[in-house]
Amino acid sequence: MTDLTTRYLGLTLRSPLVASAGPVTGDISMWQRLEDAGAGAIVLPSLFEEEIEHEAFTIDVAAQHGADQFGEALTFLPELPVPEVGPARHLALVEKARELLTIPVIASLNGTSPGGWVRYAKHLADAGAHAIELNLYDVVVDPAVTSAEVEHRYVELVEEVKAEIHIPLAVKLSPWFTALGNLAIRMERAGADGLVLFNRLYQPDIDLDTLTVVPRLALSTPAESRLPLHWIANLRGVVTGSLAASSGVYDGADAMKLLLAGADVVMATSALLRHGPEHLTVMERFLREWMVERDYVSVRELRGSVSRENVPDPQVYERSNYYQVIHSWRPRTVR
Ligand SMILES: Cc1cc2nc3c(=O)[nH]c(=O)nc-3n(C[C@H](O)[C@H](O)[C@H](O)COP(=O)(O)O)c2cc1C
Repeated sequence: MTDLTTRYLGLTLRSPLVASAGPVTGDISMWQRLEDAGAGAIVLPSLFEEEIEHEAFTIDVAAQHGADQFGEALTFLPELPVPEVGPARHLALVEKARELLTIPVIASLNGTSPGGWVRYAKHLADAGAHAIELNLYDVVVDPAVTSAEVEHRYVELVEEVKAEIHIPLAVKLSPWFTALGNLAIRMERAGADGLVLFNRLYQPDIDLDTLTVVPRLALSTPAESRLPLHWIANLRGVVTGSLAASSGVYDGADAMKLLLAGADVVMATSALLRHGPEHLTVMERFLREWMVERDYVSVRELRGSVSRENVPDPQVYERSNYYQVIHSWRPRTVR
């Protein structure tokens, strides 16, 4: 029997296939299906810095409003109704997931700046999350801000979140850093127990009829898994913590390649949106069959065996490979 168990953020997962944050993991009716289909863990949708700040603002306004009328206004605060969205819903979601699932539940925080909102990391942990994933989704448009300043802010944020919790912390990064290896090490030093590679940044589009900017949510394509593959292969051996692959994972072959590159877990959102939670069963079957055919008995045995540090020629993951690849192009037909 092939052993698919893997260690991620210090947790033992029964499978390296994890349902990443998105609408499927946010839908309670999908949870049991994900667990039955073999998910190793689920990552709940993010609680955003903006939602928390908004809540703080709302409570503040309510308190001040009450204070004008009643001296003991603060005693009214616990009576505020539980909102349909926002932090209270997220905490309830974590509690519910812990109640209903036996697999680990990872709660997600999404923000970019240190501040009071990070205390929600503790609330999510108290609600029962096994780990926190901090998504550093950012769009830095101010040209006066340097990349060094941005990275410094991220490091501070990771330190602040880590100080709030006693459960493991994963940091979800975008791929667009100049020196990712250096940032990865600083993230670890700041307290990250693992990295999720990568965030997929959503780009707006322009409507040619209305000349307006329109948000377009396009699901990923399988080709996109080559980006996490490249970087996980380069970072395995550089960082000591966990590595999770996210982006473009559609089938068992994608997942196996990422494990060989060095991922501890492989995450899927778009594939589950397209094919449903049961798609994990198909992916798992591929992993098992592939391993049996090649006499691998465990994921541990094969993980990272094609990472940069384990291939005979590490240059295949470097610039020189780019040079060779573009010069190897042979067009079949030239018009
Ligand atoms: C509709 C949708 C909602 C998402 N919501 C979140 C979220 O709340 N937090 C988060 O960290 N990532 C979120 N993601 C990103 C996914 O977790 C994942 O990193 C990304 O889609 C790339 O993986 P994929 O190619 O498997 O879709 C979302 C993605 C989609 C498509």
